[in-house]
Order: sequence, then structure tokens, then C-alpha cells
Amino acid sequence: MKVGVLTGGGDCPGLNAVIRSVVRKGVQEYGFEFAGLRDGWLGALQGHVVPLGVPEVRGILPRGGTILGSSRTNPFKHEDGVRRIRDTLTAHGIDALVVIGGEDTLGVAAELSRQGIPIVGVPKTIDNDVPGTDYTFGFDTAVGIAAEAIDRLHTTAESHMRTLVVEVMGRHSGWIALHAGVAGGANVILIPERPFDIDQVCAWVKSRFEFHYAPIVVTAEGAVPKEGQMVLKDRSLDEYGHVRLSGIGDWLAREISERTGTDARTTVLGHVQRGGTPSAFDRWLATRFGLHAVDAVKDGAFGTMVALNGTRIVRVPIPDAETPTKVVDPSLYSEFEVFFG
Ligand code: F6P
Repeated sequence: MKVGVLTGGGDCPGLNAVIRSVVRKGVQEYGFEFAGLRDGWLGALQGHVVPLGVPEVRGILPRGGTILGSSRTNPFKHEDGVRRIRDTLTAHGIDALVVIGGEDTLGVAAELSRQGIPIVGVPKTIDNDVPGTDYTFGFDTAVGIAAEAIDRLHTTAESHMRTLVVEVMGRHSGWIALHAGVAGGANVILIPERPFDIDQVCAWVKSRFEFHYAPIVVTAEGAVPKEGQMVLKDRSLDEYGHVRLSGIGDWLAREISERTGTDARTTVLGHVQRGGTPSAFDRWLATRFGLHAVDAVKDGAFGTMVALNGTRIVRVPIPDAETPTKVVDPSLYSEFEVFFG
């Protein structure tokens, strides 16, 4: 059996750990051969296939990014996309695919699987919003990076007695903001799931200054004010119809300054949250996902995605484009409101 592997969507730490574990177990235990499809679905469309064996995966466990490259290509937006993918698989003798991706890449995998292409999915994203799994790898690393940044920002905020707004990733879900904000002792945490009241944010900021501490406001990039719209960098859409976000952090600092008469600045963490070496937890989770994904291929369990359920790795249907993303439950968010202000 020859298995193709691809990584799609925004990269995240731990992708290489999955690739390594899929290949190592597949070759050693099952005698599979592997091929890499470059740059997500783009390589599948263009027939860009590279060798992927044990030598190619040596030493990649701690490396960030993906040795296979990634893209946000949506084959259903390209003429004859499905036929071109089938042609690539036939031309290279690929019998099955392991697709490592977030909601968009996996949505395509679910549809291709419905159309008869044998696929096993592996959930990835720093955003932790793929439905069906308790955690995705990449998330723990991103939270660690953001929490460390918040720790550092506390001391400089205190020195200047100003508000520091920290904008983290998370378009539709506030998992990174909530976890990093709680771990970093933020005074305000804003998430997309809960539109915020700017007057309330300013009241929390003022009360923090009254105790002679400088406020740290952590906001997800997709957080929205109650009365307004998302703040967008530009209006261009990717092939999955997503806008490019960013701007809420600057908006918040401006509003806080104007409304409270105190100084406020913004730090946008951006892609630094996705770069570099994965945490030990993400290496562990990615490795387990890889081992179980290759088992699923061996068992012919196509159309399934490996997922973390408690401490067990289970198989669930690959989430399709209709499956809602996994968002922060209001009651979980409310647990931490006691720390605000
Ligand atoms: O998919 C994960 C993610 O990092 C989101 O949190 C963020 O909104 C988006 O990707 C950024 O995408 P790009 O890499 O295209 O700027």
C-alpha cells in the first residue's frame, strides 16, 4: 500500500511530528510506502509529489512548520479539482491519503472521502477549534508563547503604568485568548464568542489602575464590540471565504486611551504563535495522532479522523464544512470573570 501525506491550512507546531510518526510506524510495522504531496491540496491538484521515507523524516520531531509545505488551496474552487486529484493519485500509485489539517482542509477531505477517495484525517491548528477532538496539537505551543509574552508585558506595563493590549490569534474561537489570558493573569480577556461592552472594558481598566497595577487586556483577533463590527485589516477573502483579521487590538488601545484618559499600547503576537519548535505536549499528541492515523489506514477506516477524547485517541467522522467549529462554552468563560478588573 502506498500512502500520500499532506498538510494544509495555516501551519502549526507539531505537523512534522505527525508526519514522522505516520511514516515510521507505517514503514516499520506495516511495510507501507509513502509519498508527500507538497503544499496541501495544491500539490494534489498540480501533481507535485515528493519522496517520503524514513530518511526524509529523520530529525524533524522538534522542528516547527511542515517539511511538506502548506497552503489554503481549496480544490473545489479550481476547475476539475476532484478529477485532477484523482489523476495525481493514480499517476503516483497512491492508494490512500493521510490529510493533516484544520476545519477547511478537513472539510475538503470529508467531501472527497464522500466521493470515494480513501482518506484518514488528522486535526491540527493552534486555534483548537476543530470539532470532535478535545485538543489539537499546536494549541499548547501557541498558548505557551502567548503566556510568556503576557508575563513579559506585565513588567513593562507596570513600569510605565499603562494598559497593554495583547492581540492573539483566534478568528471564531477564543481558546488561545482564554488559556493564555488565564495563565498570564490578564485583567480582561475578550473572545469572539462573547461580544464585549467597551464601557465595561474601560471600567475594568480603571479599577485596575485604582489598585496601582497596570492592566493587561488579552483579546482574540476575532473579538467584536457589542455595538460594532469586526475590525478588519482588509476585505480580501481566501479560497475558503475567510477575511484577514487584525486590528481589534489597536482599536481597543485607542478607545481605552480616549475613554479613560490613560496611556494604552498594543502588541499583536501574530504568526510568532505558530512558529518554532513544538512544546513537549504537542510533540506527544502529534506523535499519538500519527500512530493512530496509520492504524486507521491499515484498518481501512477511511472517512474517519483521529481525535483526543480524554486521554484516549478515538476515531470520529471527518468533520465536514457544515459541522460547527468548537467554540468556548459561555460557562467556561464565566468561571474566570472573577479575575477581571
Ligand atoms: O488557522 C490558524 C490561524 O493561525 C488563525 O488563528 C489565523 O486567523 C489565521 O490562521 C491566519 O492565517 P494566515 O497564516 O493566512 O495569515
